[in-house]
Amino acid sequence: MIRKRKLLSISVTLIVVFIFSTYYLLTTLTSTESEVRSTHEKIYHHLKNLPQLYKTHKPLENDAFDKFTSNVNVVINEDVAKVWQIANSWVSGTKLVDLESPFLGTVLSRLKTAKVVKADLDTRGTQLKFLLTLEGGQNVVFKPKWYDKSRVIEGPVYAGKDRHSSEIVAFYLSVLLNLPLTPCSVERTLSLSRDIVPVATRRLLNTSFEINNRTCIFGKCFYCKREDPICEDENFSLTGAAIFNINAPLKSYRSPWQRTYKKNKKAVWEEEDNYCKFVKEKITKRRILDLVDASVFDFLIQNGDRHHYETLHESVVLIDNGKGFGNPNISHLDVLAPLYQCCMLRSATLKKLLNLAGGQLRKKIETMPDLEKLLISDHLRALEERLMIVFATIEYCKTLKLNKE
Ligand SMILES: *[C@@H]1O[C@H](CO)[C@@H](O)[C@H](O)[C@H]1NC(C)=O
Ligand SMILES: *[C@@H]1O[C@H](CO)[C@@H](O)[C@H](O)[C@H]1NC(C)=O
Ligand SMILES: *[C@@H]1O[C@H](CO)[C@@H](O)[C@H](O)[C@H]1NC(C)=O
Ligand SMILES: *[C@@H]1O[C@H](CO)[C@@H](O)[C@H](O)[C@H]1NC(C)=O
Repeated sequence: MIRKRKLLSISVTLIVVFIFSTYYLLTTLTSTESEVRSTHEKIYHHLKNLPQLYKTHKPLENDAFDKFTSNVNVVINEDVAKVWQIANSWVSGTKLVDLESPFLGTVLSRLKTAKVVKADLDTRGTQLKFLLTLEGGQNVVFKPKWYDKSRVIEGPVYAGKDRHSSEIVAFYLSVLLNLPLTPCSVERTLSLSRDIVPVATRRLLNTSFEINNRTCIFGKCFYCKREDPICEDENFSLTGAAIFNINAPLKSYRSPWQRTYKKNKKAVWEEEDNYCKFVKEKITKRRILDLVDASVFDFLIQNGDRHHYETLHESVVLIDNGKGFGNPNISHLDVLAPLYQCCMLRSATLKKLLNLAGGQLRKKIETMPDLEKLLISDHLRALEERLMIVFATIEYCKTLKLNKE
């Protein structure tokens, strides 16, 4: 009898403890979730009350941009192997491109026109892409164009296939931000049947077939399948982004702000606004500042898919930017989490952003090569709006004492 009573009281205690701890956990969890929500609300509140400083145009102090615009259309008659040698000599621990080089226009022009001497599949990553060797020995990654420029990608921030235009405009944005950590990228049109098949490797040909005399290729990658090939059009043309392949020892790391890629499972950073505290314990301040720069860059183009990032000699490089510009009417604010959770920003980056205020971002980007073929104006408007959201986030951080570095 006594034993029975004891058992009963133990179970009652256990039940009570269980109920209380569940209640406690639930309330703390919901309170952190509403904290995250209110961070976004606070940022939007600052957006409505942005200081004039962010809306006016200060004369652009960006020598790199001015040199870029004066060189971008200049093609120097130089041996193509020499041109690649120059482009490779730019790559260092602090940059992938010399934006001020007089050879910049020449490199872009050769990327567009140099003959393809070898065509292989690029099996890195999850999406169909080619690794082309151009005359003179330079490798480029070629990402085909899957979507018309007015196509809107619905769904989560990482939905859809790579956008070739996102790769190219990301390169332009890196120029405008004077953050030369994105490889040179150009729009290029090729013929699969004439330019690729004659010089293709066996493993590429093995994934090719013809539909109505048009060559199609389905490639080899995580999402590649025969039912979903890329085909040349009625004029035997295929457009895409030709991206200079950086031939340097890149290291890959998992992003602390990686998503779960599951609809009903959130990552810790999505629920915990104090998350930066944990990041600071694991990586250096310099790395965090790089990741904040990357988050501003990714937020502007709306690339929410940087689950891993790469470094070259300790600098975070901005490679693989195909998931931007999916939907001009949506700005996923959580791409900026590194900024609003850490509230750290290089003062040099702030200055570069201010240089683009007052409509300059749109105005400058509109002068870039092929732009009208790459983006509809909705995306340009979205870029401007997102820049203002970045400024609003900086204002939000100021209320928490922004750590300028
Ligand atoms: C070609 O594809 C077949 C099956 O699709 C595979 O068994 C074969 O190994 C492939 N050959 C090459 C050279 O990749
Ligand atoms: C494909 O090419 C062959 C040979 O040039 C031609 O006879 C045939 O009509 C073409 N088929 C289609 C569907 O265009
Ligand atoms: C193919 O070329 C013709 C003639 O130049 C052009 O009118 C047509 O729009 C082109 N088709 C595609 C899909 O680009
Ligand atoms: C996006 O918003 C603009 C302006 O409000 C509108 O004209 C356009 O149709 C919208 N596009 C989509 C895809 O919702």
